[in-house]
Amino acid sequence: MSGLLDATNHWAGPFRSRVCLNEPLARHTTFRIGGPADFFVQVQTPDELIELVQRARHAQIPFFILGNGSNILVSDRGFRGLVIKNHCTQFSLEEMDATRARLHAQSGVMLPSLANRLARQGWTGLEWAIGVPGTVGGAIVGNAGAHGACIADTLIQVTILDAQGVVRGLPKADAAFAYRTSRFKRARGEIILHADFELRRDDPHACIARMQQYTEHRRRTQPIEPSVGSMFKNPPGDSAGRLIDAAGLKGTRVGSVEVSPVHANFFVNRGGATAGEVLQLIDLVRARVRERFGVELELEIEVIGDAI
Ligand code: EPU
Repeated sequence: MSGLLDATNHWAGPFRSRVCLNEPLARHTTFRIGGPADFFVQVQTPDELIELVQRARHAQIPFFILGNGSNILVSDRGFRGLVIKNHCTQFSLEEMDATRARLHAQSGVMLPSLANRLARQGWTGLEWAIGVPGTVGGAIVGNAGAHGACIADTLIQVTILDAQGVVRGLPKADAAFAYRTSRFKRARGEIILHADFELRRDDPHACIARMQQYTEHRRRTQPIEPSVGSMFKNPPGDSAGRLIDAAGLKGTRVGSVEVSPVHANFFVNRGGATAGEVLQLIDLVRARVRERFGVELELEIEVIGDAI
């Protein structure tokens, strides 16, 4: 512990008093799983995010930007390096004309509150995100989506800190969006600071009705226990949930992690589950679906941290 404390003197500068040592990441993931991060700092503004990333790079400390922790499995041994919790939560709306507005959102803004605020003001385009428990930045990295829409649909441009430390705008066309992926999934050196979206005018009642319909669908079809949402991507033309269900795997458990009896593409933490148990269940499910249907399921979530 004192070694870690001494180490912060070298790189943390003005953040020194805000560095948490050995922070359990289970507190910061929706799965409630994950070992400790050596260093953990929450940032409130894009300027703080930039400065902290530059300091970590300069000191050659591995770092990871954490949004709401809703699409990641963190190893039981945690993360050797710095986890930066993105709490940059400002957004603003600029009306362009009677029918269009430009939304400027920092990368730590939570999608459900954003979707809700916009819909109530009669701006359409993000209603699908009402039940997606992630941040704008995390959603852009994984091109999150639901109900036939995705974050790339309304996005215009992303502002990043690039691997050379330069802040620059990147138009949507350069972001290589596809189903549940983007260039940011591969180019981990690019940090999303904020993003601009174009929204359209609509009747607030119609926007709210759509959100309610999506919330109702989620309530009917998805479990409420801690999870990471969909574990696997849907294979082309099919559904991972349908395949896992048809393989008879609902309710299958390894330790305290279970294939949800409500939706088979959700693994739920029944209390005290470990990342090791989740990885064993992933292997088991993939093997059964491969044997039964000849389909290779691909992970939607990201696995973070030391090997287990
Ligand atoms: N199904 C089953 N058994 C199950 C689950 C589903 O047979 O246990 C069947 C359903 O009956 C339906 C089909 O599979 O015919 C598709 O199911 P669902 O409508 O629940 O959608 P999904 O394809 O499983 C996708 C997204 C979700 C998103 C929903 C709603 C992926 C991997 N998942 O799920 O996104 O909420 O649509 O739009 O694309 C996420 O990405 O984390 C996520 C939750």
